Amino acid sequence: MRTQVGIVGAGPAGLMLAHLLRLRGVDSVVLEARSRDYVQRRVRAGVLEQGSVDLLTEAGVADRLHREGARHEGIELRFAGRAHRVPMTELTGRAITVYGQQEVVKDLIAARLAAGGEIRFEVQDVRLDGLDGADPVIRFRDAAGDHELHCDFVAGCDGSHGVSRGSAPAEAFTSYERTYPFAWLGVLAEASPAVHELVYANHERGFALYSLRSPEISRLYLQVDPDEEIEDWPDERIWAELRTRLETVPGWTLNTGPILEKGITPMRSLVIEPMRWQRLFLAGDAVHIVPPTGAKGMNLALADVALLADAFAGWYAESRTDLLDAYSDTALRRVWRAQHFSWWMTSMLHRLDDQDPYEAKLQTSTLDYVATSRAYATSLAENYVGLPRV
Ligand code: APR
Ligand code: PHB
Repeated sequence: MRTQVGIVGAGPAGLMLAHLLRLRGVDSVVLEARSRDYVQRRVRAGVLEQGSVDLLTEAGVADRLHREGARHEGIELRFAGRAHRVPMTELTGRAITVYGQQEVVKDLIAARLAAGGEIRFEVQDVRLDGLDGADPVIRFRDAAGDHELHCDFVAGCDGSHGVSRGSAPAEAFTSYERTYPFAWLGVLAEASPAVHELVYANHERGFALYSLRSPEISRLYLQVDPDEEIEDWPDERIWAELRTRLETVPGWTLNTGPILEKGITPMRSLVIEPMRWQRLFLAGDAVHIVPPTGAKGMNLALADVALLADAFAGWYAESRTDLLDAYSDTALRRVWRAQHFSWWMTSMLHRLDDQDPYEAKLQTSTLDYVATSRAYATSLAENYVGLPRV
């Protein structure tokens, strides 16, 4: 088997890369460890920056997004018994769209298959060889047996547990990492959202987030200890804790309903530099991770592959190497801005240390500053809606 770009991973990064390459006349094959059903059901975050919506729209894969996604022009911060709206669109002229990541994944899979593109689901034992030569090869196994996919380049889009990065020598990369002493417990509930915009709450018992998916479905999160087991969180305990942390504004109550899905996700920040080794190009969660507080994960993945698609297209159309050579540095500028923003939102909103009242006072002061300074609120808003693409 031979293709131009071999893509490992069918998350937003790998699927969008395959789609953008096809639009530019470049062939690719996508290899995915899980089944189609599994990747389409995997519940993840759901906030698209304006630039991500524009990218999906320009690429012709946003029809359902425009029908079913909800445009939001502000977010609410709750702290110290008060609620404050950050009017993002008024401050920046841009907005976000709430649309689940797995819906983006469904749309991209449908578009690829409709165009006759290849996605091999349920492949096993993916191994990359020859990355430092002109003929990289991806070996893998599926129900039909062992295969070799020869290609010009490999795009490692296989997320935080992938194998691509480990196929290059460890000394080729430097990693920058921070783990947080907490996790998020996320639930999807059949409850009509009691909010129109996302609510980020700083509470003395820990952070809570009220998000939504549709007029019937709420998506909620609670800060929990990283070693908590989901079995210790029966639905009643989750609702009680959400009430305590969110019902802090007079007259406001949460809507409850059956919980459809729940899980605990650790929080971490990670950047691997550079995002390339020889003919291996890394994108998305395979090379950087952000805590979800800034809602940047999917947006960074899409921004990476927009650059990468242009770089590969330049190489095939005009033998250009400059865009391939610039990929890592260009992408990392956006990655580090998102790292800082995600770290900042995380630090401002979570209970960091039980013993440290000083931290709590600083958080309240920072939130107060966002609530009273147009300059500071604009800084939050422009990062949240997403800085323009370079
Ligand atoms: N072989 C083939 N596929 C693999 C392998 C492997 N060895 N390892 C992992 N994968 C697949 C995963 O099953 C997954 O479908 O790679 C895909 C990676 O997709 P994502 O994890 O969604 O990563 P990415 O496309 O970079 O999107 C980033 O996902 O986790 C969220 O918060 C993150 O929103 C961000 C987004
Ligand atoms: C979500 O809707 O899942 C969501 C929203 C905002 C975040 C994280 C997750 O910061």
